[in-house]
Amino acid sequence: MRAMVYRGPGRVRVEEKDIPAIEHPNDAIVKVTCAAICGSDLHLYHGMMPDLRVGHTFGHEFVGTVHAVGSSVEQLAVGDRVMVPFNICCGSCFFCSRGLYSNCHNVNPNASAIGGIYGYSHSCGGYDGGQAEYVRVPFADVGPTPIPEWMDEEDATMLTDACPTGYFGAQLGEIREGDVVVVFGAGPVGLFAAKSAWLMGAGRVIVVDHIDYRLEFARQFAHAETINFTQVDDIVQWMKETTEFLGADVCIEAVGAEADGAFFQHVTSAKFKLQGGSPVALNWCIDSVRKGGTVSVIGAFGPLFSAVKFGDAMNKGLTIRTNQCPVKRQWPRLFEHVRNGVLKPSDVVTHRLPLEEIAEGYHLMSNKLDGCIKPLVIPSHTH
Ligand SMILES: NC(=O)c1ccc[n+]([C@@H]2O[C@H](COP(=O)([O-])OP(=O)(O)OC[C@H]3O[C@@H](n4cnc5c(N)ncnc54)[C@H](O)[C@@H]3O)[C@@H](O)[C@H]2O)c1
Ligand SMILES: [Zn+2]
Ligand SMILES: [Zn+2]
Repeated sequence: MRAMVYRGPGRVRVEEKDIPAIEHPNDAIVKVTCAAICGSDLHLYHGMMPDLRVGHTFGHEFVGTVHAVGSSVEQLAVGDRVMVPFNICCGSCFFCSRGLYSNCHNVNPNASAIGGIYGYSHSCGGYDGGQAEYVRVPFADVGPTPIPEWMDEEDATMLTDACPTGYFGAQLGEIREGDVVVVFGAGPVGLFAAKSAWLMGAGRVIVVDHIDYRLEFARQFAHAETINFTQVDDIVQWMKETTEFLGADVCIEAVGAEADGAFFQHVTSAKFKLQGGSPVALNWCIDSVRKGGTVSVIGAFGPLFSAVKFGDAMNKGLTIRTNQCPVKRQWPRLFEHVRNGVLKPSDVVTHRLPLEEIAEGYHLMSNKLDGCIKPLVIPSHTH
């Protein structure tokens, strides 16, 4: 089969690989029909995540058709159209039974902090991902769900990560009616967080980024106010001035490990790997939120410490909530919102590329070129 493979920082290409086999009775093999590139993939692409090996296939946002099932799979049959959440989880451990699907205890022998994620290095279990013609799906009765017949395939793809993660970011913010909510990062995740903030009663939603076309998108798609942090002297001061010097009620960090905006943080994290990620946007959240407010962190960071302003968070009495999104937990409500037309997840899709051109997709997404918000990759199925 054809599959995207990592060759080293900034280098990906499509290679021939074996079609994955059933390794365990509860596995399914899914023939991928639509996959996406995520901002999280960029952290891999830039060599920011530990234990990423040459030859690994990325891709944790994908949908497809069941191609084969193991002998103990009961809920899926060959030919079913399925959407697969980015978390690999067993469904029955201490954490899964509490809905913490992203923290499953049984799927990642390489780390105790995080569960399994498709195509996200050996530190997340070493599972090959779905930017390929076929992918192995462990615990096939637990994660995947048949795509409802009324749901569009691209909407389903966006519901495997970006949309539920943005929604989850707003949920973690514990938004109350009338709250001022600030979202840092106008990528797909931040855009969905901003849109979801309204659904949870926000009175004002402000999106921060430094890429103008993305801020324009945030105004159109999420009806948010926007601010380009490079156009003001000090974004934290600007936030104070626009909130009567109280600060925002809720700040959502949807940027993660490669935040721009402070040279020292960028060099110590991205260049020298002395931090688990640049906490610029996270520190701006801590500084911009009011005393007693909530900071929701959905941007991804590596396992090393980062120079986070914890003392200020402590002294301001902040609530900090964070996790990888437990996608399956978000589905029932999000399916309703999509069916009722409240959300149209595929609105963020800007590019559709054949799998063979995936290197171009990474280039566009990484450098934020050609108005790119979310690129999809479509395998052509030569097998
Ligand atoms: N928690 C989860 O489950 C989960 C799931 C998906 C993605 N993520 C993470 O969410 C983050 C965003 O993902 P995405 O797909 O939207 O990525 P993206 O790369 O498309 O968007 C990130 C945006 O942040 C902007 N940015 C950079 N520095 C900034 C700063 N200091 N302040 C404000 N904005 C800044 C960039 O210009 C960019 O537009 C990534 O870190 C990704 O790994 C987490
Ligand atoms: Zn992702
Ligand atoms: Zn589990």
